[in-house]
Amino acid sequence: MYEKIKQTADYIRQKTNDFKPEIAVILGSGLGSLVDELKMEYEISYKEIPNFPVPTVHGHKGALLFATLNSGKRVMVMQGRFHYYEGYNMRTEVVYPVYVMKELGIKTLIVSNAAGGMNLSYNVGDIMLIKDHINLMPSPLIGPNDDRIGPRFPDMHAAYDKELLALAHRVADKRGVAVREGVYAGITGPCFETPAEYKWLRIIGADAVGMSTVPEVIIANYLGLRIFGLSVISDVGGGDEPVEVSHEEVLAAVEKAVPVLVGLVKDILEDI
Ligand code: HPA
Repeated sequence: MYEKIKQTADYIRQKTNDFKPEIAVILGSGLGSLVDELKMEYEISYKEIPNFPVPTVHGHKGALLFATLNSGKRVMVMQGRFHYYEGYNMRTEVVYPVYVMKELGIKTLIVSNAAGGMNLSYNVGDIMLIKDHINLMPSPLIGPNDDRIGPRFPDMHAAYDKELLALAHRVADKRGVAVREGVYAGITGPCFETPAEYKWLRIIGADAVGMSTVPEVIIANYLGLRIFGLSVISDVGGGDEPVEVSHEEVLAAVEKAVPVLVGLVKDILEDI
């Protein structure tokens, strides 16, 4: 994979006039409108990138975007991610873009997603800053380790950067936005949780659950990147009454929270 990553990064450098991004953002379902707020300089469709996974028909837009912020910092945005439940290989496809980001010189990764809440004090539309995660998916590091890329047994005691978390709280306070801070559990999906699973997730210490993010964070941590993550709470379960969850409902909740989340991420990007 080492050579493939280098080849992909070379192609991107050539297509972006050697842009050298410092921060990467992975946008989750329905969160694409962040890109409307940034002045894009280059856009490359996933389809044309050598060795990149091929987007599924129902997938998101599928492009890498490159922008310079007011502060002069250079950002790379992944519009659309590769979910394990879509059938992508965990080791070689789901997390492939993160390896490429590192090769391009990224130091900081911001991840966003929609998640179901099982902390009963949460409401639909809340924004949760991720302070830690529980991995309930296969690890993207299973298999032989390439010591040129990262360690065999990566430490995970501070996967989510404390300083970035503090910065996000400051930015939220300044904007007058109330945010939560919690633990994200990553499941494979594509089923939403049963009531018993929701309850179990709460008991094991999760505040929210989703079908993404954890694989990318594991690899980003393995590669020594600083990580910040946030979730939009799109439904709340795990109480006494079972609650039906639908994809449409999730997208509707996310849509409402998007302007707030986009404002937050924009400020965080400028202040990093
Ligand atoms: N479970 C898993 N993933 C999700 C959920 C959920 O309830 N809501 C949004 N993504």
